[in-house]
Amino acid sequence: MKVDLSVRGMRDYFPEIYHRLSHIFRAWRETALTYGFEEFDGPVIETLELYKIKSGEEIVNQLYNFTDKGGRELALRPELTPTVARMISKIQNQVSKPIKWFSIPRCMRYEKPQKGRLREFFQFNVDIIGEGEGIADVEVMSVAIDSLRNLGLTERDFVVRINNRNFVSEYFNGLGFDKHKTGPLYKIIDNARKVSREVTSAALDELELSSGQRDAVRDYLSLNNSEDLKKLDSAIEGKESLLNVFSLMEAAGLKNYCEFDPTIVRGLDYYTGIVFELYDRSEKMRAICGGGRYNDLLREFSGVDVPACGFGMGDVVLGEILSAKGLIPAYKKCVDYFIVRVTDNEIDIMLKIAQSLRKRGMKVEFTYRWMPVKKQMAKASRVQAKKALILGVDEIAGGMVVEKDLAAGKEVKIPLNSLLE
Ligand code: HAM
Repeated sequence: MKVDLSVRGMRDYFPEIYHRLSHIFRAWRETALTYGFEEFDGPVIETLELYKIKSGEEIVNQLYNFTDKGGRELALRPELTPTVARMISKIQNQVSKPIKWFSIPRCMRYEKPQKGRLREFFQFNVDIIGEGEGIADVEVMSVAIDSLRNLGLTERDFVVRINNRNFVSEYFNGLGFDKHKTGPLYKIIDNARKVSREVTSAALDELELSSGQRDAVRDYLSLNNSEDLKKLDSAIEGKESLLNVFSLMEAAGLKNYCEFDPTIVRGLDYYTGIVFELYDRSEKMRAICGGGRYNDLLREFSGVDVPACGFGMGDVVLGEILSAKGLIPAYKKCVDYFIVRVTDNEIDIMLKIAQSLRKRGMKVEFTYRWMPVKKQMAKASRVQAKKALILGVDEIAGGMVVEKDLAAGKEVKIPLNSLLE
């Protein structure tokens, strides 16, 4: 009996699937490097405590946690930001700032597996540590945008929705919201774009707000763009920093990618300023990317204030978008030479040629077991080799090898020595 022992929400990366991943990783890595970020990584396992400090209830509920043989309470990493904060606290007063780090960790979250969300995924993390709000926020958002542009997406495909956590809290400050109601209120605001007006309205009913508070929520949700923001009471904290970010994004030539969105509040507890999420314009998918400023998190570890901002971009939604738009190059093995031996006596010379060509950076294959030439040639076409090198008994004795261009079907004789240099 066949038994499938795969774990729900985990992925098997067959070569064709891994090819899609490495295509995405290449663009992520190259983009971060062009902005001067350094690559790092942290451990896959952290203490449970690390995530309880400030990630928020939602992520703590999604942890894969366990007690190890020494009785320690541990968890598989669901995200990298707490690890970044923990690692930076060890070195933050020995290195010059800003610290610009990126990483592509494998993360685990015990979420309900669904379109765009799995229990195991890779996440491109980009963070600037030691720099206050303004240009650093713009730089991290630009890396997110450029990594998608480098994968072939354009302003017609995706949008960066931006808000500011201070702005949200200041907007409702003074309206007498009970402390225990602000968490649920932010959740309703966060959901408002994803559900109907009726659902939002019913959720607000449950909060039993005063009519003034209810009006404030309605007015808040009707803010549509940065022009609406400009018209607001200028004393609201966070508003100027939002407008500044929009003007810097315009200077960077990225204005068309950005929109103010009052519903972006982010589920993680550590954000303190600018927050943003990237979505595909069709609005059919979950967020491609999310991030923002977290100025207080490092204080929890190092006791000193170190401002920081960054984002995480998963491979799952992005991979689906790129595949749907035909932006993943076809999977090919890219073999330069397939060596075909007419008899099994040419093994030694075949291995010598293969090693010599591989040293020159060529991709070389051959069959491990001898088989008739026709079958070897069929294997060469199956791996889409560019050329076959046919080692005939007489040709080798005469110091020559037949080189066949498999696409053109043309054969030429070349000196054996030229392959061995
Ligand atoms: P996050 O919004 O929890 O933020 O995740 C960021 C991105 O990771 C999401 O937009 C999505 O692309 C991907 N992601 C999250 N959960 C899953 C899942 N279950 N399956 C597939 N993809 C997923 C953070 O993780 C923050 N630590 C980001 C950050 C870095 N903020 C500052 N620096």
